Amino acid sequence: MGRHDPARGVTDRRYDRRLLAAWERFVEGAGLASGVVPDVVGQSWMRCRSAYVDPALEHAPDPLAEPELMALRQRHRELIEASRPVMMQAHDLLSESATMMILTDPTGVILQSEGDAATLEAALDIRLTAGANWNELLSGTNAIGTALSVGGPVRVHGAEHFCAGIKPWTCSATAVRDPASGELLGVVDISGKRNSFNRHWLALAVSSATRIEERLSSLDSELRQRLLEWGVGNLSRAADGGLLFYDRRGRLTATDARARASLAAMGLDLDLNAHAAIEAFRADSAIDLSEATLPPWLRPEWIEPAVVRGERLGVVVVLPRPAMATVQSAPAAADFAIASVAHEVKQPLAAIELYAGTSLRWLARQQPDLAQARQGLEQIIQAVKRAGDVVSRVRGLIKKIAPQKELLDLNEIILGVVALMGSQAEEQHVALDARLSQHLPAVLADRIQVQEVILNLVKNALESLIGCEGYREVSIGSRALQGSEVVVDVKDTGKGLDAETAEHMFEPFYTTKSEGMGIGLAISRSIIEAHGGKLWAMKNSPRGAIFLFSLPASDG
Ligand SMILES: Nc1ncnc2c1ncn2[C@@H]1O[C@H](COP(=O)(O)OP(=O)(O)OP(=O)(O)O)[C@@H](O)[C@H]1O
Ligand SMILES: [Mg+2]
Repeated sequence: MGRHDPARGVTDRRYDRRLLAAWERFVEGAGLASGVVPDVVGQSWMRCRSAYVDPALEHAPDPLAEPELMALRQRHRELIEASRPVMMQAHDLLSESATMMILTDPTGVILQSEGDAATLEAALDIRLTAGANWNELLSGTNAIGTALSVGGPVRVHGAEHFCAGIKPWTCSATAVRDPASGELLGVVDISGKRNSFNRHWLALAVSSATRIEERLSSLDSELRQRLLEWGVGNLSRAADGGLLFYDRRGRLTATDARARASLAAMGLDLDLNAHAAIEAFRADSAIDLSEATLPPWLRPEWIEPAVVRGERLGVVVVLPRPAMATVQSAPAAADFAIASVAHEVKQPLAAIELYAGTSLRWLARQQPDLAQARQGLEQIIQAVKRAGDVVSRVRGLIKKIAPQKELLDLNEIILGVVALMGSQAEEQHVALDARLSQHLPAVLADRIQVQEVILNLVKNALESLIGCEGYREVSIGSRALQGSEVVVDVKDTGKGLDAETAEHMFEPFYTTKSEGMGIGLAISRSIIEAHGGKLWAMKNSPRGAIFLFSLPASDG
């Protein structure tokens, strides 16, 4: 706001009169009266003048006809869905308040309005109603259009409006953005007749926009989860070359590591992190597979729309098995799961941080507000539960990924891990060696997943040695047990397991490391159990820990 904050001067008739006089001179071609017109408003007036907006307009242009409005609402149904609770509350709370709440699309066309019946009716006169476009280049300076232009909260009061017919009104609005990309999705606005103005409107608009953004982000992650589950359930068997998951806005939301390997094998050097949305995949467009609309690397035959009961969750790209790829570069299933956990858990973690901060502030008051602090703590418990749910869903997901089973020589995998970790061990002055049985039966298992488990155990072992004096060794052993099982153990001479760690270390997110995520063991255990084996730990003597897992030997 400029120097003249209408929130303070709103009852000040003189301010309004001075502003009106400044406007009259401005529309006759004079410059902006300095010190009278707030900056945000003045800049908007300039934009209106450059776009030849008629200052004598009595109202906004006529609204869209019903069929076009329906189509528009269909296109923005995610925004509308996310706004439902806020709009419902507006419907209940704003009745008889001489106020209305408005939701628009990113161009300023009103999608919905709710609130006091008399105000909604009066608003028809200026076309402040569904389907009308309040972009400032059509309807002059107003909170909706100006919030869109400046991308943030704006209050436009009385004579600050550019068009004569709108001046009896006052409005406060702010932008709603896509929580993931920051893309502008629309505007929330509170409007009413000038004399009904309340200084809290802008705060109400801002907090409503925040609630909509929060809900968008939780709807987004729900959809993402459903898309992953659908892909894993329906496509993972076919996906030798890996999967790329695109959300309803055509944005890449997940990949498995096989995908990177096969893209690389095909010589496609895509930067998956900075990958632009694929317009043809947007859920509001029919999927157009003609080559013109697809990026050049993407073959139409790889595309699988994920449709469940008529609803499109997104699109999955099923990459072909790379012709020459013999080694997979990364542990697919586990990588995929980790990425998924990391993504999904970020939200509850952010919520926990927020609630903890507010609770502390309630407690730090001169008269601590215990009720509010308690409420904050209860919300923290809810968020923790949510994080727990996410983790168990992802564990379920790992179980569902059909392992790509083949006959494996575990000794070969162990030697591969020793080679992979050799230089790191050397740097840490740790002797890393293998004790391998020469008569080891093969196991039927997923190479990548088993390799991931051994890697996790060796990494943990190396980490347990950090800061330990004395002999530093990590060794990996293999042996057959009664011919029906193969057991692999990873021994270290590190700090060992205290009672508390031993009790909780297999739980997701239990970690004693400042940089740890605490999911290595949880994921390893789900992988081994999905293969019909067991993973457990023991004390090493004289010190350190031993982690062991068993897998059924193959009879073949
Ligand atoms: N070899 C070991 N010796 C001592 N403690 C261990 C060992 N392996 C695991 N732990 C304990 O178990 C905890 C959980 O291990 P886990 O691998 O699940 O997570 P992390 O290593 O902390 O983090 P990350 O998710 O990055 O692997 C560790 O933080 C550590 O306290
Ligand atoms: Mg670990």
